[in-house]
Amino acid sequence: MSRLVVVSNRVADPRKQAAGGLAVAVGEALHSTGGLWFGWSGKIIEGGTPGEGELRAQRSSNVTLATVDLGRDDYERFYTGYSNAVLWPVFHYRLDLADFDTSYIGGYRRVNQLFARKLLPLLRPDDLIWVHDYHLIPLAAELRGMGCRQKIGFFLHIPMPPPLIFAAIPEHEWLARCLFSYDLVGFQGNADLAHFSRYVQAEAGGSATEDHRYRAFGRTIRAQAFPIGIDVDEFTRLTQGKEARETYSTMREQYARRNLLIGVDRLDYSKGIPHRIRAFRELLANYPENRDSATLIQIVSPSREAVNAYADIRRELEGLCGAINGDYGELDWMPVRYIHRTVARKRLPGLYRAARVGVITPLRDGMNLVAKEFVVAQDPDDPGVLVLSRFAGAAEQLLEALLVNPYDIRGTAEAIQLALRMPLAERQARYRALMRRIREHDVHCWSEGYLQALRESGGD
Ligand code: ADP
Ligand code: F6P
Repeated sequence: MSRLVVVSNRVADPRKQAAGGLAVAVGEALHSTGGLWFGWSGKIIEGGTPGEGELRAQRSSNVTLATVDLGRDDYERFYTGYSNAVLWPVFHYRLDLADFDTSYIGGYRRVNQLFARKLLPLLRPDDLIWVHDYHLIPLAAELRGMGCRQKIGFFLHIPMPPPLIFAAIPEHEWLARCLFSYDLVGFQGNADLAHFSRYVQAEAGGSATEDHRYRAFGRTIRAQAFPIGIDVDEFTRLTQGKEARETYSTMREQYARRNLLIGVDRLDYSKGIPHRIRAFRELLANYPENRDSATLIQIVSPSREAVNAYADIRRELEGLCGAINGDYGELDWMPVRYIHRTVARKRLPGLYRAARVGVITPLRDGMNLVAKEFVVAQDPDDPGVLVLSRFAGAAEQLLEALLVNPYDIRGTAEAIQLALRMPLAERQARYRALMRRIREHDVHCWSEGYLQALRESGGD
């Protein structure tokens, strides 16, 4: 059988904790097959030569982790610049937050070339190469240019925007052409695939055929939706583990008289956290029976702090939480507990389980694994309710959640109120239906489905 080679910007030791959907899902997928995981070491070398970086390899059980460092200039142009100040905001429909600084693209290309150069000598002829996410769109084109003939697939973890939004990126045509150097391009959901398909036909003058094939730029590739999932059995085991049970008991004890609501996110403007806090405030204003009772625990993992928009959202959130606590708090009750920290993965299920409501309301999200984790951690006999943004990729599958428009603050507050008052029988029925869907689309199904399609694909 071919060896699996995964390439992603973020590489996480599968034995250690990682915040971010990609690291969690890829770690789980690779762990079951073994193989090579290649990417950035997470280290920044001050004064490093642009386009250069030392390669290091280490074994972590059945996976070899091969990583390169990035020089400061490459890091700033490739990671904080083009990846997170151009592609991330545009792909999340936030043209207003994009910074189209013309110096970023050079760093983006340079790091992709560096990755290709360092990876090439590690490859074996029958490797199956799986490239992940928006940082590495041009990687296959670079590898092909260096003579790589192996099958190469790409998976986009974030949303694919509608064609006219994508077309706002000055280099959109080049990016689309780069996608056509892959054999298979995978998206999170049907909406993303539809946007890609429309782009190919309307902007690239290409065509789509019925068997998931797309033709443009003189090549035919396969493109399809593969909704990512979690490892349900592993997360269930975590839920039953000592740390999760301890966390659950502590929370239940401390909040015995309260109804807990929980939000867990990377601190990112795409996650809709300020809108969520406003909806919670609206809940307290419009449904006073929740005062001195409902408590929102919002845990945010620090993320991309060097990008201006991320520093702004942190300040905004601190202000919003301070105001709501000042206006509604009592000596023995704070409406919002805002915690700026990555929680140990083993403790997360305990937090989810102690909550009556999971409030997962991104303005736009590729999938959102937290939504799936929240459901899996629930007690089947007395499950909490998931309030989920209809703009999360997960909403294509999790139809039995209470789906909300996060921009509609009043509507979201009403849904939270409904969740808090939902009778047990309805909570159980929704939980069972959601669990079926989460199992149907778990991480193994995602990686096996994708890799099967990659083996069957063949560009020309
Ligand atoms: P994204 O990939 O945009 O970060 P996802 O919801 O798909 O969003 O994945 C986030 C992953 O990171 C989940 O597995 C979640 O448990 C983890 N995570 C997010 N925030 C935190 C946090 N504050 N503490 C611990 N883990 C977190
Ligand atoms: O899932 C989207 C994603 O951007 C991943 O590519 C990434 O690993 C994760 O979020 C966390 O972001 P970062 O790697 O920038 O810390």
